[in-house]
Amino acid sequence: MNAVMENLLTRRSIRAFEDRPIPKEELDQILKAAQYAPSAMNRQTWQFTVLRSRAKIQELAAAIGKALGRENYTMYEPQTIIITSNLRDSRFGIDDNACALENIFLAAHAFGIGSVWINQLRDACDDPDVRRMLTSYGIPDDHTAYGIAALGYAAPAQLKDIERTGKIVFAD
Ligand SMILES: Cc1cc2nc3c(=O)[nH]c(=O)nc-3n(C[C@H](O)[C@H](O)[C@H](O)COP(=O)(O)O)c2cc1C
Repeated sequence: MNAVMENLLTRRSIRAFEDRPIPKEELDQILKAAQYAPSAMNRQTWQFTVLRSRAKIQELAAAIGKALGRENYTMYEPQTIIITSNLRDSRFGIDDNACALENIFLAAHAFGIGSVWINQLRDACDDPDVRRMLTSYGIPDDHTAYGIAALGYAAPAQLKDIERTGKIVFAD
């Protein structure tokens, strides 16, 4: 099978990670893939903010959980997260960030690195405690944090096949 197709068809969301760091060169490539995603009118107003400290990742998860009233909330304790943010008033910011996230997931998978989209920061990012943390990471105040890519090597035995039910219609 074509290598790109194989990468695309074998990616799965990973929700348990080994305690093994991601090499910096591979992280850099993953971030480059994010930058190469399409963006509406080529605005590229996104920012990709990387957290590699597991303590900081836990701290952020705890703040998000508190903001959303979810006591046992975790982000699956990954090695690294990439927070994708974009201008709050950008009409297509959310679409652009989704493209970037998919590029991140596929690039990570190409390096044998597992990933999953974490969605809860979007609703929690304007909670004062959470926003203070985002500001300390360098995320601009006029950005909404649209998503998180959690990254790490997959803990064994968690891949399951998922039936794909999205309808395809040829209307020619
Ligand atoms: C917009 C969006 C939000 C998602 N949010 C979460 C999330 O918060 N937590 C999670 O575990 N998975 C999340 N996912 C991953 C989906 O659950 C997953 O992609 C879906 O079950 C299909 O599985 P696959 O990624 O292995 O193909 C999200 C996916 C998308 C596209």
